[in-house]
Amino acid sequence: MEAQMTLNTETQKSSAKRLEEKVAVITGGARGIGAATAKLFAENGAHVVIADVLDDLGASVAESIGGRYIHCDVSKESDVESAINLAVSWKGHIDIMFNNAGIPDNEGRSISTLDMNRVNRVLSINLYGTIHGIKHAARAMIKAQKGGSIICTSSAAATMGGFASHSYTMSKAAMAGVMRSAACELGVHLIRVNCISPHGVPSEMLISAYRTFNKVDITPEKLSEYIGNKASLLKGRGAAIEDVAHAALFLASDESGFITGHNLSVDGGYTSSNSSMSFIYQDPK
Ligand SMILES: NC(=O)c1ccc[n+]([C@@H]2O[C@H](COP(=O)([O-])OP(=O)(O)OC[C@H]3O[C@@H](n4cnc5c(N)ncnc54)[C@H](O)[C@@H]3O)[C@@H](O)[C@H]2O)c1
Repeated sequence: MEAQMTLNTETQKSSAKRLEEKVAVITGGARGIGAATAKLFAENGAHVVIADVLDDLGASVAESIGGRYIHCDVSKESDVESAINLAVSWKGHIDIMFNNAGIPDNEGRSISTLDMNRVNRVLSINLYGTIHGIKHAARAMIKAQKGGSIICTSSAAATMGGFASHSYTMSKAAMAGVMRSAACELGVHLIRVNCISPHGVPSEMLISAYRTFNKVDITPEKLSEYIGNKASLLKGRGAAIEDVAHAALFLASDESGFITGHNLSVDGGYTSSNSSMSFIYQDPK
């Protein structure tokens, strides 16, 4: 354990300021995964614009990291365009676009009674919000001719059924599709496009889903413990919000310079396994 901690500290030291002078826009940066990523990006030398609908929270996170805040409902294309314009007018260009804003859909779970108005609402934020971000970041990055990194927060729900509602699942799966097609087109401009697919991160989104389905409150610590025991190959090791922030830091930095069109799972291996078959690893008696 001590050796591991020394290694971690050394790694952090040697790779300090991995985003020196880069300019990033983070949607959904007021709390949860987005806020943790904004802090980590700023610690690594980035100038960060936080775009969210939670104005007080978003403004206070931005102030704490020397960044900027803009009210931005990602379902409105002009709001997303304004967020990117703010970054460009502030620092001259944009290097990193983190399309991270998202909402769950905790109501009405059966496909046979699907409320199409709610489906449209989820798609308008999770999917179209991301497309708005890819589109306007690509425009600004192509114009500046400096390349760039576009990251989208998809989900384990994009890979396997049974994780979330139908509307949330379709929004995240389609996002992985547009990420790949955009990566194909934008590679010629040295713009990389990737997804991160988290699972079981104890943010307000997951805590409120747990509350809705189980009718009880749970702390982030207990939720992480629960995921670690039930839904991770790493026994007892649940997700932390910072796990996703570190994945975003890697994809945003030049260290991932040859990675594009990739969907990076941050899920303790859960979507790469079928636990109902794990008996095959036990020695036959
Ligand atoms: N928590 C998990 O286990 C998990 C798993 C897979 C994917 N994700 C995804 O991670 C992303 C971040 O979620 P989180 O877990 O940090 O939850 P969260 O609810 O704490 O954060 C979501 C953020 O998005 C913002 N947002 C919501 N609607 C918006 C809109 N229309 N315009 C701009 N901002 C908006 C919220 O205000 C909030 O700041 C989401 O896209 C979510 O779908 C989370």
